[in-house]
Amino acid sequence: MMRPHVSINMAMTADGKIASANRAVTTFGSRADHAHLLTLRDKADAILTGAGTLNAQPQVTLGPGPKPKAKPPLRIIASGSGQVNARHKIFRALGAPTLILTTERISPTRLMELRSLAGVVEICGKEEIDFKRALKWLQKKWGVKRLLCEGGGQLNDALFRAGVVDEVNLTVCPIILGGREAPTIAEGLGFAQLKDAAQFSLKSRRQVGDELFLVYRKA
Ligand SMILES: NC(=O)c1ccc[n+]([C@@H]2O[C@H](COP(=O)([O-])OP(=O)(O)OC[C@H]3O[C@@H](n4cnc5c(N)ncnc54)[C@H](OP(=O)(O)O)[C@@H]3O)[C@@H](O)[C@H]2O)c1
Repeated sequence: MMRPHVSINMAMTADGKIASANRAVTTFGSRADHAHLLTLRDKADAILTGAGTLNAQPQVTLGPGPKPKAKPPLRIIASGSGQVNARHKIFRALGAPTLILTTERISPTRLMELRSLAGVVEICGKEEIDFKRALKWLQKKWGVKRLLCEGGGQLNDALFRAGVVDEVNLTVCPIILGGREAPTIAEGLGFAQLKDAAQFSLKSRRQVGDELFLVYRKA
């Protein structure tokens, strides 16, 4: 493949939400779900998250899984405007380099500030990050073969629309959050027609307690 294999991992409620409408509830998976996330991180060379998720979750450092790795996965943040909390813990956490993918929308001041915090800030598009281009760059420049995306919904949507998602890991949790404004696994623009929708086939399903672990593979 000319780009890394891309896998998304998300926990969602039984009504398909990934956070509450007021964004106060951001995590609701069990210990088994967390262990699943760490196992997926172990298999990845890079972990990608959106600025929305990072800013909403101050404790997230995208650290490696339980198995010590000679080369821990790169930490990558997607932020077209560069509105990433400069005081976020991720910039103080030891480990693999933190890269930021951004666009020409970023202001020069912001670019300078983020360059002083992150290993690299790469401009990968005019208005939106061009993920095909960004993934090629990650493969060529950083040797990324397997990338794990941990959301959120806007970032996932951009990856689906770019046609670069190979696998979706979904943990269905036995709660209902409801709320029209509550985000789902793919926000943003979405697909206007069924024929264009991202299509997957069910690769595996596993039940642990009251949670369902589903793995979909690109059809
Ligand atoms: N349940 C779960 O498994 C799970 C997982 C992750 C997140 N969450 C929750 O989901 C919520 C966050 O989701 P979200 O959809 O609001 O945010 P998000 O997808 O994490 O981040 C959105 C931001 O990412 C940047 N971005 C994404 N795609 C881009 C593109 N193609 N080009 C340029 N920039 C792009 C933009 O940053 P700029 O605005 O800087 O341009 C955008 O505002 C939080 O409440 C979080 O806790 C839940």
